[in-house]
Amino acid sequence: MRRSLRSLLAATAVAALVLPLWGATAANAEPPGHSHADKHALRTQAPRDLAIGSAAWGQRDLVQYDRHAPTKYQQVLGAQFSSLTPENDMKWDAVHPAPNVYDFASADALVAFARANHQQVRGHTLLWHSQNPAWVTAASQTWTCDQARAVLEDHIRTVVGHFKGRIYEWDVANEIFQDTWDNGGVRLRTEANPFLKACAADPIALLEDAFRWAHEADPEAVLFLNDYNAEGINEKTDAYYALAQRMLADGVPLGGFGAQGHLSLLYGFDASIQANFERFAALGLQVAVTEADVRIPLQPGETGPTPEQVAVQAERYDAMLEACLNVTACSSFTVWGFPDANSWVPDVFPGEGWATIFEDDYTPKPAFTAMLESLRDATPGTSPRRG
Ligand code: XIL
Repeated sequence: MRRSLRSLLAATAVAALVLPLWGATAANAEPPGHSHADKHALRTQAPRDLAIGSAAWGQRDLVQYDRHAPTKYQQVLGAQFSSLTPENDMKWDAVHPAPNVYDFASADALVAFARANHQQVRGHTLLWHSQNPAWVTAASQTWTCDQARAVLEDHIRTVVGHFKGRIYEWDVANEIFQDTWDNGGVRLRTEANPFLKACAADPIALLEDAFRWAHEADPEAVLFLNDYNAEGINEKTDAYYALAQRMLADGVPLGGFGAQGHLSLLYGFDASIQANFERFAALGLQVAVTEADVRIPLQPGETGPTPEQVAVQAERYDAMLEACLNVTACSSFTVWGFPDANSWVPDVFPGEGWATIFEDDYTPKPAFTAMLESLRDATPGTSPRRG
């Protein structure tokens, strides 16, 4: 029933709204050289209104791009995914390296690659406590709230304006809540985030204006809150749920809630992800899995995981995808890069790895196959769920 609604929307309203803006880039338009007959591509098997994305690092992997001679990585990225998220290229330190300097070179390269491959782009990110340039960190020591607001407003209007019409979803605010284990528990990051810190007396007013500025700069983009440990129903997502209600009541153009989906086999899987998505969807928001990866603890000296770990990894990826497929409001499902050699995991989580859906020679892992099958099952007419 749900899925029928999804396909109906895809065929009518979404196509009518999205096609004129994006040309051929509806959520799952066919990539050049591929068609829906390609049974081995995630993007071609997905329901039409569900974008299937990957993070990509433009500066590292896309600045050199010849569409007639793509690298193997570029070929797979173009063939498999209908959406790209810049892994680093739109972060503050990349686009705004000095007070009056904006540098869009690598982000533009990513957007150009996406257009050439009929892909949409998720913008990431405008307000975050991490990867801010040194000048922000230094200046923020003495910012008044008005000064912080002025800097953030200029940044948001400039960056969102630069990409106007080319970004379908923006992660406006990233990781703005602390975790239960942080000092003070789950609350807004009014210490680590320099903007929220300067406006700690009323951080929500700043946050709400951030969404308003982004909306004014690109009214078509759907504006998201995004975080990790935000898959299931927990203290952190309760805080987001309350915040979302408040923002909507205040008339703020909040459009979506993103669960990053960074999982580890060191921990259990919270099966309440679908219920969590459903409660945000009931507020009228879109939901998305924005940065999925499933890292595996590896024994020193071991190069790969055990067959059992491989199977659990596939289950976890698939469970996140299924939650998205089962909630009509889920607009995009994005994996956080591939292959393993490109993954952020080994750098940040020593002793863990093998987190992506492709091996280093681009052999698809069981996680890929599980996702492909779920997408196929969800295609109109073939899914038991669709009746
Ligand atoms: C990571 C990138 O993958 C790395 O290349 C970078 O060094 C650090 O940031 N949550 C997010 C992403 O929202 O932006 C982070 O990306 C991963 C965690």
